[in-house]
Amino acid sequence: MELGSSAASQRRCQDGSLAGRQSLGQGMGQGVAFTVAPVGRFMAVEIGGIDLAQPFDAAVRDALLDALVEHKILVFPGQQLSQEQQLAFTLRFGEAEGHVVRDWRNQRFGAVHTVSNLDPEGKPTTDLRSNGNYFWHTDKSYHDIPSLATILHAIRLPPTGGDTQFADMVRAYEALPEAVQEKIAPLRVVHSWQASRANTFNRPATAEEIAEQPPVVHPLVRTHPVSGRKALYIGKHTSHIEGMDVGEGRALLYQLLDFATRPQFLYAHAWKPGHLVMWDNRSLLHRASGDYDMAQHARLLHRMVVRGTRPY
Ligand code: OGA
Ligand code: MN
Repeated sequence: MELGSSAASQRRCQDGSLAGRQSLGQGMGQGVAFTVAPVGRFMAVEIGGIDLAQPFDAAVRDALLDALVEHKILVFPGQQLSQEQQLAFTLRFGEAEGHVVRDWRNQRFGAVHTVSNLDPEGKPTTDLRSNGNYFWHTDKSYHDIPSLATILHAIRLPPTGGDTQFADMVRAYEALPEAVQEKIAPLRVVHSWQASRANTFNRPATAEEIAEQPPVVHPLVRTHPVSGRKALYIGKHTSHIEGMDVGEGRALLYQLLDFATRPQFLYAHAWKPGHLVMWDNRSLLHRASGDYDMAQHARLLHRMVVRGTRPY
């Protein structure tokens, strides 16, 4: 039977050259086959022929995970999932994350929550409760055990703009001069909720939040637990480099971020109604682009996050 990694590893979206049908054998229920077609220059694929609102078996799940590792971003067009269905889909890939962040009523977000520019009355606003999504980051790197994948489902979209941008941290790492790779190999970075808030001009973290989410340390270069590829692990949640002068460490982190988010490492996802996008936080940075008229148009997505493993 042609399953999982063998089938998925035949796919390459380098230069947009290969598309194909992923064969999953017979008698496997929904999702006996799904299609994989490149949408980006070197990462991101569109997965067709599968209805995520319906159950599918473990072989399909494993093949999707293989595709996620290889292509980093999976775009599922034409989906219509209720929040319960999105939760069920997410739980196929692991544990759902809890959240530090609170909504307008200061209530903690549920496992399925919304990302939007709407105020408490449901009106579009530029006065966002939190603008952290507009800065390059990898989800929950201020956790000891950060996120494996994030799953966003488009519910309401502005007429134009509002892309989510992704930067490939494997490509960026590999493009660094060897001397820089050697210099940064042993470095460890402090990430924290407190630093994240400060880095993004948000209201400062509260004492309660800091106590709940103390700083954590991760390698600057992490090894993907499945592919074994090395990737920069940086972004807006970083504070400083352990054992290095704080200013010097922060300058290096910003220099690396500047390099790693050059256009040649980017894919911008242009949302369409019905899109569900799942991405690999272990090898990407991402941000919302905010290039639409936020005072006029609603942008609302349902979000879930799958817990990952400790970076090494
Ligand atoms: C997120 C996020 C970006 C966007 O949900 O983690 O960063 O484009 N979203 O909404
Ligand atoms: Mn995010």
